[in-house]
Amino acid sequence: MASLLKLDVSPRGDASYSRQLGETFLQGWQAAHAGGTMTTRDLAKQQPTYVDLQWIAGAYSKPEDHTAEHKAALELSDDIIAEVKAADTVLITTPMYNFQVPAVLKAWIDHLVRAGVTFSAGPDGYKGLIQGTKAVLIVTAAGDYAEGSPIASYDLLTPYLKQILGFVGITEVQVLKAGNTAGIQYGKISAEDWKKPLDEKARALAAA
Ligand SMILES: Cc1cc2nc3c(=O)[nH]c(=O)nc-3n(C[C@H](O)[C@H](O)[C@H](O)COP(=O)(O)O)c2cc1C
Repeated sequence: MASLLKLDVSPRGDASYSRQLGETFLQGWQAAHAGGTMTTRDLAKQQPTYVDLQWIAGAYSKPEDHTAEHKAALELSDDIIAEVKAADTVLITTPMYNFQVPAVLKAWIDHLVRAGVTFSAGPDGYKGLIQGTKAVLIVTAAGDYAEGSPIASYDLLTPYLKQILGFVGITEVQVLKAGNTAGIQYGKISAEDWKKPLDEKARALAAA
């Protein structure tokens, strides 16, 4: 049975364009995967903690040596990893902030990437340990960072997410770049006209 983890990042609730496109994806996904299961994690409402001393001490020591403090610090990391491993598709809807991922998404990534759990390091290099999970990224931005745009290289978010997901074994990553939301803000395009082709792309990704 198909399983989807939907991770939403924008704090803008229903007004968020990344969340709106994520809903389109979800509807398409549900239509294409009858009986599939879905889990959501809303990072605007469930803001992850930051890596701290107890987290590091726990993550880099043997589970049998973990103190109560280590276990408490790693609990969220365990949950985040379990959610990702259980999903065959992870949908991440996120705005671009300062050319990168918003801080809450980075905090989520810091819980996901764990030595010996989601990646291993050995004489032959690094190996991602998550198997059978692919990802779809829906990325909104005020600017247009599509291929060929003069500011395409400013987009540090998409290559970073692809790299870090690949690092833990999620190598199949599809990206829907939904740039130019500034066009809506400045009245150059209506929200409906902006959304229409992107909704179609979101539906196509959901059915793939
Ligand atoms: C703190 C902050 C930083 C932002 N940084 C960028 C940026 O670097 N490049 C860009 O094109 N847009 C940037 N934006 C604009 C958002 O990416 C854009 O408004 C996007 O549509 C928001 O997505 P949402 O509608 O899902 O919340 C920024 C917005 C905020 C609030």
